[in-house]
Amino acid sequence: MVREVLTAFLVAACFQPRVRGALFSDPAQLPSHKTYDYIVVGAGPGGGTVASRLSENPKTQVLLIEAGPERVFSIIHRDTNVLNIHVPYLGYTLNPNTPYDWNYTTTPQAGLDDRVLTYSRGRVLGGSSSINLMVWTRASRDDWNRYANVSGDSGWSWDAIEPYYRKLEHLVPPTDHHNISGQILPHIHGHDGPVNFSLPAIPFPTDDNVIGATQELADEFPFNVDQGSGDPIGIGWVQGTFGNGMRTSSATAYIHPVISRPNFDVLLNTTVTKLIQTGTHGDKAVFRGVQFTQNSTTPLYTLNATKEVILSAGAINSPQLLMLSGIGPAAHLAALGIPVVLDAPAVGQNLADHPRVESQLGLVHAEDDPLDPIARNATLLAELVAGWEQKHAGLMANGGTNQVAWLRIPADDGVWATEEDPSAGPTSPHFEILFRPGFASTVGDPVPATGAFFTLNTVLVAPSSRGSVTLNSSSPFDFPVIDPAFLSTAFDVRAMRAALRASLRFVAAPAFAGVVSGAAGPFADVDVDDDSALDAWARAQAATIWHPTGTARMGAWRGGEPDLRVRGVEGLRVVDASVFPFIPAAHPQAVVYAFAERAADLIKAGHRAC
Ligand SMILES: Cc1cc2nc3c(=O)[nH]c(=O)nc-3n(C[C@H](O)[C@H](O)[C@H](O)COP(=O)(O)OP(=O)(O)OC[C@H]3O[C@@H](n4cnc5c(N)ncnc54)[C@H](O)[C@@H]3O)c2cc1C
Ligand SMILES: *[C@@H]1O[C@H](CO)[C@@H](O)[C@H](O)[C@H]1NC(C)=O
Ligand SMILES: *[C@@H]1O[C@H](CO)[C@@H](O)[C@H](O)[C@H]1NC(C)=O
Ligand SMILES: *[C@@H]1O[C@H](CO)[C@@H](O)[C@H](O)[C@H]1NC(C)=O
Ligand SMILES: *[C@@H]1O[C@H](CO)[C@@H](O)[C@H](O)[C@H]1NC(C)=O
Ligand SMILES: *[C@@H]1O[C@H](CO)[C@@H](O)[C@H](O)[C@H]1NC(C)=O
Ligand SMILES: *[C@@H]1O[C@H](CO)[C@@H](O)[C@H](O)[C@H]1NC(C)=O
Ligand SMILES: *[C@@H]1O[C@H](CO)[C@@H](O)[C@H](O)[C@H]1NC(C)=O
Ligand SMILES: *[C@@H]1O[C@H](CO)[C@@H](O)[C@H](O)[C@H]1NC(C)=O
Ligand SMILES: *[C@@H]1O[C@H](CO)[C@@H](O)[C@H](O)[C@H]1NC(C)=O
Repeated sequence: MVREVLTAFLVAACFQPRVRGALFSDPAQLPSHKTYDYIVVGAGPGGGTVASRLSENPKTQVLLIEAGPERVFSIIHRDTNVLNIHVPYLGYTLNPNTPYDWNYTTTPQAGLDDRVLTYSRGRVLGGSSSINLMVWTRASRDDWNRYANVSGDSGWSWDAIEPYYRKLEHLVPPTDHHNISGQILPHIHGHDGPVNFSLPAIPFPTDDNVIGATQELADEFPFNVDQGSGDPIGIGWVQGTFGNGMRTSSATAYIHPVISRPNFDVLLNTTVTKLIQTGTHGDKAVFRGVQFTQNSTTPLYTLNATKEVILSAGAINSPQLLMLSGIGPAAHLAALGIPVVLDAPAVGQNLADHPRVESQLGLVHAEDDPLDPIARNATLLAELVAGWEQKHAGLMANGGTNQVAWLRIPADDGVWATEEDPSAGPTSPHFEILFRPGFASTVGDPVPATGAFFTLNTVLVAPSSRGSVTLNSSSPFDFPVIDPAFLSTAFDVRAMRAALRASLRFVAAPAFAGVVSGAAGPFADVDVDDDSALDAWARAQAATIWHPTGTARMGAWRGGEPDLRVRGVEGLRVVDASVFPFIPAAHPQAVVYAFAERAADLIKAGHRAC
């Protein structure tokens, strides 16, 4: 009932452009005589940002096509599914297999006991930024400098990108108005950009123990007042893409605020099924057309851009669309009966992602764990959500994690005897630890009925494993075959082991004495001193932290140009996480926003005529 009212509201809105701008949900609604300079495919941090920036010039006509629906927060038209997108704490309810998820799974992972993992990707205006867990990390100086290095374009260096971060950020005070001095360096951030981000909205009792341990173990686990400085190494306060108690996504930051521009149209609920070759120029195929439809049973439409098609469907769907359109590894396409337009061996290859393992500890005092009581008590959760609806504050205005560690494996670790360092350099971490009270499990073990818990979420952020995205068939509606190849190299297994050991050394600090009671829940039985037992824990527990990248990488080898045009064809550019030549040792959304901001400037500079 509520959903019907909401749909009616959205549909009605579509016929009132002056109220909501040009927002369409059926290709049949598109104005028939309009031509677009740019057609952008996908409304995540890549496509939402580029489309919004390109439409700043009122003479530039932009169409943004998004497979998913729009979900605007509305107090009046309350809809639980919509609410969950906007309440920061409820981010965990948005995956897997929700109305905003592509519902992908991986191939059986040999490095993970042949387990098949769920592999969520956002399918809604805002893309994965509408369903992600909102951690905001700018990546390191060395990560960016390596991008500059392999692309041969110094515009991708840290020094060149840092101003883009300032341009796009808006540091918003935490909703509890606590003094943020000593938790962030406000002067290194932006204060009037579109992307609202903030610090934890509510303290957890264990915050003092985490910060205390950084003082006691400062050599190995130093406190870092701001991990966004280009040098993230150390432990600091989590910065998150929420502000004023509401999630920030590319929809709230870049699309909604400018949707009333008459030169900016957004077509929702519409899946692009193919990129269309519109001609040839010299020896190059020109790709300025897109084919799209609502679903597998509805009519196909095509439309040509006069200047460019910008593919921003994300690290899974961008290579999928390139391959469906004849741009990809020739033998693979030929085997599926897809005519090869351009043999591009890199497309779909080089898939890199971060595996994570959650390990549970016990807490001595029940009052140190404010989160498990919520997981166990639906009435309490409903009360807190009702409180959020009144004030946009409180526990629901927070993510689940208040501190994060970004660390390197020590130089004297045995791993270096046999393995090369895949990281970008000394400012770039090998692993991450997210600290949170409460029980969490990467394999979905339920919260035990009793007990108080603290969870270490240990993430390998400099993996050397590389997997792939390939097609299962020539149908755009078939799921692609996704193989992140987790823990498939000796380095990754050793590095995950080193990271888990470091996580345990940290919570052995005196600051946790009498607070953390040791391994608990499923982790209790693991003999952590035994290498093979710890490796077996990692293989049994690891899951994705949802950071696929690199499947249409720019770079000096066959792939994209440094300005993100697809090498070997004309009229087509890729702007999303698939272009990263290496996976950043960071949560990638900030990196995608920064890439897209610069890409918009490169596109504008390349088409000065209008
Ligand atoms: C559950 C989850 C948690 C995460 N947590 C964090 C975090 O805490 N911090 C962080 O930094 N990052 C996080 N990420 C990752 C981050 O959200 C992504 O790296 C980022 O959103 C990638 O941006 P993108 O533009 O490349 O792709 P996406 O954000 O995935 O956007 C792609 C868009 O294209 C659309 N699309 C795809 N195919 C088509 C098609 N054929 N036709 C039309 N539209 C199409 C999709 O529906 C989607 O809207 C998380 C991701 C997930 C899924
Ligand atoms: C868009 O698709 C969603 C399902 O993904 C559906 O609930 C909604 O009604 C559609 N919206 C419109 C306006 O067609
Ligand atoms: C994903 O699964 C959910 C729950 O079953 C469903 O509502 C949604 O439509 C599915 N998404 C896609 C793209 O099929
Ligand atoms: C990349 O790094 C290598 C090694 O540090 C250096 O020799 C090379 O000149 C760099 N290339 C560019 C384009 O910066
Ligand atoms: C915040 O804390 C810092 C350091 O303790 C202090 O100098 C400053 O005055 C405080 N600001 C406010 C507004 O209280
Ligand atoms: C971002 O925060 C600013 C400052 O509080 C606020 O004015 C603005 O409305 C917020 N933007 C969004 C999209 O929520
Ligand atoms: C797109 O361009 C192609 C090639 O020029 C042309 O055949 C086709 O009719 C165009 N499509 C539309 C919808 O204009
Ligand atoms: C496809 O979309 C049409 C039009 O919105 C809808 O009536 C139909 O139920 C959809 N079919 C599927 C398989 O989703
Ligand atoms: C669940 O929460 C409600 C609301 O705070 C509270 O009244 C109730 O006692 C709780 N139930 C249990 C079993 O703790
Ligand atoms: C690929 O297709 C086969 C045969 O139809 C099917 O069994 C398999 O599940 C598909 N794989 C994916 C990833 O959808």
